[in-house]
Amino acid sequence: MAKISISPIITLVLILNVVSYSEAALGAHYYDQTCPQAESIIYQTICNASIYDPKVPARLLRMFFHDCFIREKQGCDASLLLDSTPENKAEKDGPPNISVRSFYVIENAKAKLEKACPRTVSCADIIAIAARDVVALSQGPWWHVLKGRTDGRVSKANETIDLPSPFSNTTTLIQSFAKRGLTVKDLVALSGGHTLGFSHCSSFSARLHNISDPSINSKFAINLKKKCPIHNKDRNAGEFLDSTSARFDNDYYKRITMGKGVFGSDQAMYGDTRTKPIVDSFAKDEKLFFSEFAASMVKLGNVGVKEDGEIRVKCSIVN
Ligand code: HEM
Ligand SMILES: *[C@@H]1O[C@H](CO)[C@@H](O)[C@H](O)[C@H]1NC(C)=O
Ligand SMILES: *[C@@H]1O[C@H](CO)[C@@H](O)[C@H](O)[C@H]1NC(C)=O
Ligand SMILES: *[C@@H]1O[C@H](CO)[C@@H](O)[C@H](O)[C@H]1NC(C)=O
Ligand SMILES: *[C@@H]1O[C@H](CO)[C@@H](O)[C@H](O)[C@H]1NC(C)=O
Ligand SMILES: *[C@@H]1O[C@H](CO)[C@@H](O)[C@H](O)[C@H]1NC(C)=O
Repeated sequence: MAKISISPIITLVLILNVVSYSEAALGAHYYDQTCPQAESIIYQTICNASIYDPKVPARLLRMFFHDCFIREKQGCDASLLLDSTPENKAEKDGPPNISVRSFYVIENAKAKLEKACPRTVSCADIIAIAARDVVALSQGPWWHVLKGRTDGRVSKANETIDLPSPFSNTTTLIQSFAKRGLTVKDLVALSGGHTLGFSHCSSFSARLHNISDPSINSKFAINLKKKCPIHNKDRNAGEFLDSTSARFDNDYYKRITMGKGVFGSDQAMYGDTRTKPIVDSFAKDEKLFFSEFAASMVKLGNVGVKEDGEIRVKCSIVN
């Protein structure tokens, strides 16, 4: 009897150990003593920037994904913000089809934080908080961001090729996420980030001019072809990723169920038995999507967190 009553406790202790060990560096109250105003300074900067430029929310959300995904062992370390130097081409200048913008918003928040609490808040934490704030500002969910990341000193353009491609199949996407400790559910939930923003023709036009792609809704394909003709000369041409591109909602999943996913990689999730039921559940239940998205963003924020980096003074250069 004694054994039976002890074993659940041992199990519990083991689980708690594993959880607290792997997330030891990060905490929701990390700056409570050292920079209590950190989150409100970041929020004000994000709000102001998003009013001036409505493209800012989508760009900052994508920035967080890329920062955490490139160099998976040293994921969310603001390596994406480093400028290239004469000796080194940085992630920022990787293949143009992954290019992210609006770096200045993070730099502005950093400048204000350096005045309020010098050398305290990492650029990596600013990106993580900004990604939460832009989702909330776009009427999406809100969550507690765990903080305490430090900033990396390495950024290599060629490593952006490890990012998943819009032409990837679901197996490749699942493997890419698994390498970062993320599950199939995390993949489907985080892909919901495509409820915000825009894509250039180059990221999807190959599938339009392919009449044998049965997964694409034919009327949708005709519309997209008008926007992205074969000999497209407009480099800025493209399409919004869902029909409510400034509002964080579950429209992205509804459109996938109708064959109206913009990227082959998004639409492929509806043709795979591992991901289709999850897409259906998010298309039906927006609250479920919101809570799963929030949980998966916290997990994305744990990818390759560094404890031995630095707190950059300026986000674009190492100290
Ligand atoms: C699952 C694998 C993913 C692939 C293959 C992928 C691919 C892409 C591509 C090709 C673009 C368009 C780039 C362009 O043509 O300008 C894009 C845009 C975007 N992605 Fe993803 N993405 C993925 C996951 C994610 C995740 C996890 C998030 C965030 C949680 C995200 C957020 C965004 C946002 C917000 C945009 C719009 C950016 C803008 O309007 O400037 N993506 N993605
Ligand atoms: C608000 O954003 C604009 C445009 O980026 C910038 O010029 C201005 O300095 C910002 N104001 C504050 C208070 O951050
Ligand atoms: C990128 O280039 C560096 C050398 O500059 C090399 O060590 C590394 O393996 C390359 N990474 C990829 C993903 O090609
Ligand atoms: C998925 O894509 C990878 C890489 O292009 C390829 O090797 C693999 O055969 C594909 N898997 C399926 C099921 O199509
Ligand atoms: C995106 O960049 C990668 C790496 O340079 C390249 O292989 C791929 O063809 C590019 N895709 C498009 C659509 O430009
Ligand atoms: C065209 O569509 C078929 C069927 O979905 C797919 O196997 C093939 O890879 C696509 N080709 C291109 C160039 O996208």
